[in-house]
Amino acid sequence: MTTGSADLVIVANRLPVDRVTLPDGSLDWRRSPGGLVSALEPVMRSNDGAWIGWPGVAGEELEPFVDDGLSLVPVALSETEVEEFYEGFSNGTLWPLYHDVVAKPEFHREWWDAFVTVNQRFADKAATVAAKDATVWVQDYQMQLVPQMLRELRPDLRIGFYLHIPFPPAELFQQLPWRREILEGLLGADLVGFQLSGAAQNFVRLVRQRVGHKTHRDMVYLPDGRSVRAAAFPISIDAEDFEKLARSDSVNARAAQIRTALGNPERVLLGIDRLDYTKGIYSRLRAYSELVKDGHFDVNDSVFVQVATPSRERVEQYRVLRDDIDRLVGRINGDLGRIGQPVIAYLHSSYPRHEMAALYRAADIMVVTPYRDGMNLVAKEYVACRYDNDGALVLSEFAGAANELRQAWQVNPYDINGMKSAILGAATSDEKERTRRMKAMRKTVSEHDVASWADGFLAELAAVRPSHGKPVRPVRPA
Ligand code: G6P
Repeated sequence: MTTGSADLVIVANRLPVDRVTLPDGSLDWRRSPGGLVSALEPVMRSNDGAWIGWPGVAGEELEPFVDDGLSLVPVALSETEVEEFYEGFSNGTLWPLYHDVVAKPEFHREWWDAFVTVNQRFADKAATVAAKDATVWVQDYQMQLVPQMLRELRPDLRIGFYLHIPFPPAELFQQLPWRREILEGLLGADLVGFQLSGAAQNFVRLVRQRVGHKTHRDMVYLPDGRSVRAAAFPISIDAEDFEKLARSDSVNARAAQIRTALGNPERVLLGIDRLDYTKGIYSRLRAYSELVKDGHFDVNDSVFVQVATPSRERVEQYRVLRDDIDRLVGRINGDLGRIGQPVIAYLHSSYPRHEMAALYRAADIMVVTPYRDGMNLVAKEYVACRYDNDGALVLSEFAGAANELRQAWQVNPYDINGMKSAILGAATSDEKERTRRMKAMRKTVSEHDVASWADGFLAELAAVRPSHGKPVRPVRPA
């Protein structure tokens, strides 16, 4: 097989750019916001990197191109593949199964077939783009078969895999008719990374039980002599960059404008989520509305701003969720709101980073209450933006971030009364208490940023098979 020239290849379902239509009608690319690309950009640049991904629209066959110095390699998906691979197996089967079965996963054989076909296409592409002995880093649940497929094509490669979402306990994973194939797909990697150590342990245990390989602690020993390591690498954000943005005059002016537009309330509560059933938006809004009904919050001086970013809109469970939230917000505002004073200011829209930072600056209390979440970077972004050590974070104990952000007001999102007390606790806490908590969380977020996450993973990947392949040059020399 002929090899390519990239020493570091990222394989992800999406490219780090979005297709945009310019005012003159022509099509262009815009860098999608998100920590992953900003974290990997420097290391990609210093290693002749290439990023393989889907451009996000069906049917587009595009040639590889360079965007702002990054080498991007699009993989096309047909209309049917978008339905069966992306909306179907990735988001109708794996997503709910890996998030504690918060919604019922559907198992369809034709979805699985599409998943295999598309993963093979990504693996084939990676095999042609990667240079001899290169490092390939495969990202997330949509690509779980790629490591093994790629290893078969290119045994010379060093392969890493990182799962951004939770990895379920054996009792749930077992439901998957293709459980063995997924485990074997992941075992094609030299290093499999997870958000939390519990997820890595779930994986190793499943490999022992279902595939029958020998394991010891975080290592899996394969019959061909190869070994695979499974470990936790909690992802983070570019904290410094967020703080810089938050400190800017324009963000602070916008934050003041937002508060004025809300009627200068004494207290602004904020939720920002992809509109997803794992995020616990419904119970959070109910908890808050009960606090208003009970008289703990007054619509004259408090408002809850809920931003819900449109997501996976053609998947049935997401449509149902949207209707449910629309109805709930309508009912709460109808019952408890006043003219010009809604209980909940609801925005179904996505916003650029600048606006997000302004919202974080404007919010006294950030409420993040997922039923299950791999990490939750919104919680970390809020913390990064509170450079005065003020503000309060209410955080679900079922978000990966709860492991690090221990000083948040932690809640069980299934316990509405508990959530009410935590929100109230945060709202009535004294300044000293809030400062103490925020300071500690800010230290954690600034010490563990996304660059250290990427460097940490790549350094471990180089260490798993030290005698094999070229090591990746780190972003920051040790
Ligand atoms: C989660 C997943 C990502 C995914 C993102 C947006 O964060 O871990 O892999 O890209 O959601 O979802 P979408 O379906 O729009 O790519």
